[in-house]
Parts: sequence; C-alpha cells; structure tokens
Amino acid sequence: MLRTHTCGELRLSDTDKKVSLCGWLQISRDFGGMAFIDLRDRYGITQVVFNVKIDAALYEKASKLGREFVLQITGLVKERENKNHQIETGEIEIIAESITVLNEAKTPPFTIEEKTDGGEDLRMKYRYLDLRRNSVRNNLQLRHKMAQQTRAYLDNKEFIEVETPVLIKSTPEGARDFVVPSRMNPGQFYALPQSPQTFKQLLMVSGFDRYYQIVKCFRDEDLRADRQPEFTQIDCEMSFVEQEDVLQMFEGLVKHLFLNLKGIDLPAMPRMKYDDAMKFYGSDKPDLRFEMRFVVLKHTTDNENKDLTTGQGFKVFDEADLVAGICVGGCAGYTRKQLDELTDFVKRPQIGATGLVYLRVNEDGTIKSSVDKFYDVDTLKNWAQVFDAKPGDLLLILAGETVKSRKALGELRLEMGNRLGLRDKNKFSCLWVVDFPLLEYIEEEGRYFAMHHPFTAPKAEDMELLSQNKFSGIRANAYDMVINGVEVGGGSVRIFNRQLQARMFEILGFTSEQAQAQFGFLMNAFEYGAPPHAGIAFGFDRLCSLFGGADSIRDFIAFPKNNSGRDVMIDGPSEIDQKQLQELNIKLNITKPMKEVNC
Ligand code: AMO
Repeated sequence: MLRTHTCGELRLSDTDKKVSLCGWLQISRDFGGMAFIDLRDRYGITQVVFNVKIDAALYEKASKLGREFVLQITGLVKERENKNHQIETGEIEIIAESITVLNEAKTPPFTIEEKTDGGEDLRMKYRYLDLRRNSVRNNLQLRHKMAQQTRAYLDNKEFIEVETPVLIKSTPEGARDFVVPSRMNPGQFYALPQSPQTFKQLLMVSGFDRYYQIVKCFRDEDLRADRQPEFTQIDCEMSFVEQEDVLQMFEGLVKHLFLNLKGIDLPAMPRMKYDDAMKFYGSDKPDLRFEMRFVVLKHTTDNENKDLTTGQGFKVFDEADLVAGICVGGCAGYTRKQLDELTDFVKRPQIGATGLVYLRVNEDGTIKSSVDKFYDVDTLKNWAQVFDAKPGDLLLILAGETVKSRKALGELRLEMGNRLGLRDKNKFSCLWVVDFPLLEYIEEEGRYFAMHHPFTAPKAEDMELLSQNKFSGIRANAYDMVINGVEVGGGSVRIFNRQLQARMFEILGFTSEQAQAQFGFLMNAFEYGAPPHAGIAFGFDRLCSLFGGADSIRDFIAFPKNNSGRDVMIDGPSEIDQKQLQELNIKLNITKPMKEVNC
C-alpha cells in the first residue's frame, strides 16, 4: 500500500503517528518560509505543512507543485494551531518529511471545487475531473447506496436478480429503438431494450415467481432533465398477485429507501384515480407538496358543476367547455406587472392558454377582477365562495377546451408553487396514481395506443366495455408512483391469456400476422401455463435525483449524455469506417452537413 491512512481519516488521537497519505493537490499556499498543501482524496482533505527551517529542500520542492498533482506524502501528525472546524481532519496537520510526485498534472480546465468556474459543457468534456468534485461523487455514492438498499430489500422478499439480454428485437410500440446491425445476419438488426418487459413476463411463465433487475434501458426519444437515452430501471415482476400486492410490496421498497438513506419515515401513500388527478391537478403526476386544487366554475360535460359563468356577455367563458381556476393564498396584492407576467406565462406555446382571468379578494373583502365589466359583484363574490377564497387571496382562472385547459392550469399551478416556494426539495410527497385508461386514441395516427404498454390487463369490471368495442372508457390495472410531481415508477397487472393478448394487438392495429411475428414468442408462452402476474419498474436515476434534491438525473449518472444524446467526452456517437460498414452490409445515404471551412 502506498498509504497508511486516507485523507479523511486522521484525528487528534493520531497525534505523533508517522503516516503516509496519497492524493491530489487541491491547493497550495506559500507564506514565505511556510508552505501549506491541502491533499485531497475521496475521503476528505488533510493539511500538510512544509517549513523551510525544518527541511529547506523539501520546502523548495513543495512550492513547485501544481494543482491536481498526484502525491504521496509522509510525515508526522501534529495538532493544528488554527483549527478548521469545517472539515473532519481540521484539528490536525501533517508535518511533511518526504514527498513523492506519483504523477504530474496539467492545470485543469476548471477548478475542482464545490463552486467551480467550469460551465456544463466543459465539465462534461472532462467528466473524469468533474467527478473529482465532492458533490458529484456524493451523488454517485448515494446511487451506490440506493442500489445496495434496493437489493437488500428485494433479496429479503425472495426476489431473484436475473439478467436479461441487451441485444433483442425491435418492436413498433413505445418509443423509438436504438438498433444494432448484425454482421452475421446481413440486413438484420438487433434493438437495445426499452425495458426488459417481455423477458420478465417470460420469467414468470418459467416459474421464477419474483424477479428483479437493476438494468440499463435504452430509448431514442427527445431528452429532458429527467430523461436520458440510456437510463436505469429497478425492474420487477411477481407471480400470483393482484394490483394491491404490488402496490404494497413496492410502497414498502420506497419506504425502505427513504428510511435507510434519508432517515425519513414516510406515511402510507395516498392513492388517486387518474381521472381525479387530471380533474384536480391537470396532470397524471400531481405534485402534492402543496394543495391548490382546481375549482370548476363551468364544465359542459360534468353535471356535478353548475355553470356559474355563461350568459353574461363574456364570450371566452360562454364558449368554453371548462372554466376552472386555482386559489392562490395571500397573493391578492399581486401587481399588474406580476399578473401580466403570469398571463404571458400561460400564453407561451408550451402552455397554450389564450388568456388568464384573475380575481382579487382584497383584505377589506372587496373584489377586483379582470372580468368585472361582465359579471356583477354578487356573481364574483359567489365565485370567491366556491373557491373558498379568504381576504388576501388571488383567483387565477383559465377557460377553453377541457384537456388543454386542465394541462395549462396544471402548469400554472406548478409555476405558482415555485413562486411561493411551496416545492421544497427537502419535503417529499408520494402517491399512487391508479385506474389509468387502458387505451388512448391518437388523432394524428388514427388509432388507439396502449397508455402503459400492450401487455397491460384491463380492469375485470371493464371487460364488458371491451367486448362492446367501447375502448375509450376501459380502465387498466395500471399504476404509477409519483413523488413531488415526478413519475418515479410505473407498472401494471399483465395479460396472461393468449386470446386477450391477441385481441389487444388487434385493437392496436396489428394484423394477426404482425402480432405473431412481433410478439408470437410471448403469446405462445402464454399457452404453456402462464401464471397471473404483475410488476413495476422504477426510474432508478429519477429516484436518485429526488433523494439528492436535484432537478436533473444527469448529476447522478457517471457518464451522461448531453441534450443531443452525445457523450462529449468520448465524442460519441461517431462515424465508423468503410470496412466496418461493408462487413455489416450497410450503405450510407446521408447528405453530410457542410464542414466548417477555416479561412
Ligand atoms: P415505463 O416506461 O413507465 O415502464 O418506465 C418505468 C420508469 O422508468 C423511468 N423512465 C426514464 N428515466 C430516465 N430516462 C428515461 N428516458 C426514462 N423513461 C422512463 C420513469 C418510469 O416511471 N416495462 C414498464 C414497467 C412495467 O410495466 O413493469 C416500463 O418500462 O421513472
């Protein structure tokens, strides 16, 4: 061993020991005759002292070392005069007796400190240096612990970890596949799995009973802060269970993780029907760290609500399917400018509302609204009452087509949550969203798509609708776990009967030949004694980033891709040479972008 201790280990009780430490030079300071080096490794930082009066040559050598040099230092542990209580080794220092430069280092392109001067692109290019920073390394340590705790929990519940293949077959459902050409099968391609879905179901047919895998999945989709083209799932499946068993088992997993990694004892997770999530929060992943539920003033297709808006000459409300809003506590004092900002926010193309109506309930009980020329005071007061608004509250109201308006109001609700600091990263609010629709009709494609995936079973009580071809009303035995507005996991009870699976493919527009060609292996397996089964997969990166209080999953992946799906460090993806292409029987037909010409 090149060292006797790590840089995070020594304490006052080690005084006078002769030790050897190895690490990177974080920073050096020279006070003329006395030089100090902070030596850093994964475990911490230790101060090393060089005194010209003790060893002039060593002092000289130390003053020539640069940032990030890799050093081995031997010396005596001594109590420090000026103690640093910010770090655990801050009561001691090493009086150096020798230094060995294990390796020199170029000056790094950014400072390797918590507050670094490196921008995102630069840090990604030199990710191995970025990973030297404590915060980034801590994120990966959290990831490691989460994997350990996941394995401990699932192992304890008799789950078996099984690896499933990475080179599989492309299927048309879901996101786009990443494909890999097969040299030995000219003109044919493997696909990388978007998830091990069909394999885990086959393992149930094989009698494995309880399976899990912490597994890489690949999806060629547009990237966002919580999406990477390759990401990791905690993928699970169980036999002889119903939805309730799965919810309890995996609520147990998440509670176990919170308790063991964050010391938080979570309460039981509430369950919300998909329809209610959309109705009250405009999202199938509501952030329940704060309430601000939607209140409806008019909904043409819902008899529960009286229409409190139509017929007073305000066309926008008269023509709307839905008039609904949120009550924002204590914001009646919002200025014209702030309200204009919110109007601009909802009118952004991504949000898509045509405008925003507000109503202030002033402290003195009077009401001021942007539509008070259409509605009399009594009507406005009635609205305020329906919203249960108190003096000082602000109502923000949107109107239009139901689905769009709900979505826009959902975004506005989150925006107000942000503005009011209600989305505290240290607070966790978990729930299950259940009873998803089985199918959704996509207008542009002119056909139904499976809302979760084609292997999801309809609810037994909705089988009647299926036989009547009333697809839109069928609910699925599908569930999502949502934490702080993030979908961290999703799963379903599966179809395990060949006929029903074949019917599902038919509804999704497959011919029976296509269904057989794509998924025959699964349907055939169902004919050899498939047990009832159900499962779930968690987004492992998303769970890590939530636990770590970060917005982007990138910070929790050692070598992530950027927003264009590139690894800027290894510069991938890249072209391959002509010989490789020939071996693969691939002829490229790409018009290359013009190379920049250096004048
Ligand atoms: P689903 O597609 O819902 O279900 O994926 C499960 C969970 O994986 C996470 N996730 C992602 N995380 C990062 N980047 C991505 N691109 C990405 N896509 C999904 C989400 C999501 O909830 N086989 C089914 C599960 C099942 O039915 O058992 C499946 O993959 O957190």
